[in-house]
Amino acid sequence: MKYFVYFSASGNGDFIAKEMAEKGYQPLKVEMVKPFGKVGFFKILKYGFQATRKKKAKIKELNIELKEDDIVVIGSPIWNDRLSTPINAVLDQFAFNKETTGFILYPAGEGTKKSFKQIEKLGYQKQPVILAHPLKKPERVKELLSTF
Ligand SMILES: Cc1cc2nc3c(=O)[nH]c(=O)nc-3n(C[C@H](O)[C@H](O)[C@H](O)COP(=O)(O)O)c2cc1C
Repeated sequence: MKYFVYFSASGNGDFIAKEMAEKGYQPLKVEMVKPFGKVGFFKILKYGFQATRKKKAKIKELNIELKEDDIVVIGSPIWNDRLSTPINAVLDQFAFNKETTGFILYPAGEGTKKSFKQIEKLGYQKQPVILAHPLKKPERVKELLSTF
């Protein structure tokens, strides 16, 4: 099986999930116990700060039983230059294969440096793919996902 395990607060990750589904990846959306709700200034401050502190959000149980030959791609928005807190929780809960697991990161801008460091520090070996603001640049999504 191929899985796309991702979080999305405002639709960009969902858009990528649709593309990944066409490539045979089963989308598994991570849900927060306390939903993110509408994105606003104070939420960006609050959750951004939590991401800076590498917090793990409380998430609903994910229905996934991994087999050794399963392929997993993780999708995360960028929060304060880092991975989103629901994805921190997923990475903590599951023993994904460090060699084969890929990452798709979707920032609004270009800053993703600290997230790269986080992924590297956790031992993942594949270079993440960056898709800046997929909903605004849908034509680039297909092109950048061609390696999956
Ligand atoms: C709490 C928070 C912090 C964010 N911090 C950054 C950031 O540091 N750099 C950036 O490029 N985008 C940042 N963004 C924007 C999101 O990464 C971007 O809009 C992303 O594509 C959203 O994906 P989604 O719609 O699937 O949730 C932030 C968004 C939120 C909600």
